[in-house]
Amino acid sequence: MDTQQVVLHMNHGTGDNSYANNSIIQKKVMREAKGIVEESIKRLYTIIPIHCFKVADLGCSSGPNALQLVSNVIDIVDNTTSNLNLKPSVFQFFLNDLFGNDFNSIFKSLPQFLESLEEKKGHKFGPCFINATPGTFYRRLFPNDSLHFLHSSLSLHWLSQAPKELGNEENVHLTSTTPPAMHEAYLEQFRKDFKLFLKLRSQELVAKGGMVLTLIGMDKSQKTHDIRTAWSLIGTILNDMVLENLIEAIKLECFDLPLYDPTIEEAKEVIEDEGSFTLQRLESVTLDWSTNIKEVVDDDNNNKLDLNTKAEFTTKFIRAALEPLLKAKFGEEIMDELFVRYKNKIVQLIMGVKILEFPTLIISLIKKV
Ligand SMILES: C[S@@+](CC[C@H](N)C(=O)[O-])C[C@H]1O[C@@H](n2cnc3c(N)ncnc32)[C@H](O)[C@@H]1O
Repeated sequence: MDTQQVVLHMNHGTGDNSYANNSIIQKKVMREAKGIVEESIKRLYTIIPIHCFKVADLGCSSGPNALQLVSNVIDIVDNTTSNLNLKPSVFQFFLNDLFGNDFNSIFKSLPQFLESLEEKKGHKFGPCFINATPGTFYRRLFPNDSLHFLHSSLSLHWLSQAPKELGNEENVHLTSTTPPAMHEAYLEQFRKDFKLFLKLRSQELVAKGGMVLTLIGMDKSQKTHDIRTAWSLIGTILNDMVLENLIEAIKLECFDLPLYDPTIEEAKEVIEDEGSFTLQRLESVTLDWSTNIKEVVDDDNNNKLDLNTKAEFTTKFIRAALEPLLKAKFGEEIMDELFVRYKNKIVQLIMGVKILEFPTLIISLIKKV
């Protein structure tokens, strides 16, 4: 089993650095994709007789977003079945993530979640069964033809592994000075992983089943690479810490982040090459990443936030996602120092740009018959 499967997860719990408290941008991406999820589900209800709607969310993580898809799907199906004069649906949801995910905190939040659903929906609300399916989505997770709808939000830019033998000693990701061969190695790993993901999911979906995916990725015309810069800044800091003897050089030499943000064209090429799905939509949306703040703060107020506060939000977002991986490699004792330095770098990054771009691809697919 590769190490990513064991050590990769978002920060657990509900503390200051937890994923639960630092995933507002991911929530906004789910909101951006909700119309496309709705379109895909409505289409399904008009073409397939569905008694129990079977849905999986791949890379659900923990915190408020883990049950957001469940809530959105129930609302959409509820409206669709009433409009089409169908009986209320029964639901079966499968929440997937890697083995290290904080599934316990999801389970603990279920009684309250189900209670508030019943209050909201009353008698119209069909039975809703929620299951956990731990494991990597780069392997089979479900039986053949067993799901109607698959969803994955902001998880597929996580590769199964960083490309091997990069010789990328001082960096942990791609930078403007990285040789083309390394860019190609990352792209090749993405192609391999995404193609496998599509093949596996096509086996699990019923014929004409729907799938909506979001991942970090950009339109080819976008010149800025704020998110890549944010990833590679980790390497700059680790390198400084090696020079100060705070980290052993050997640890940095064999570490690369297993992340890739494809362009629209790169994602499209893999979908066409794999061949199991018809591409319904492929859109790019760019959000301002330094607005990783509670929703009560509106855009006007956000514009008035000082650099320091924005850098703090951005740092916590990165820390919530990358800390478990970095901790496993470099040790817990350097984490606070690493992220203090990281915040200072982010202040400089934000100073030089109008907004910190968070580019996302939204992809809607239909399984071919
Ligand atoms: C940034 S979080 C997104 C979580 C959630 N979907 C959201 O929108 O807030 C990415 C999640 O993908 C999971 N992940 C990464 N690689 C995975 C894999 N190969 N199989 C299953 N989950 C994976 C991570 O553990 C993490 O919880």
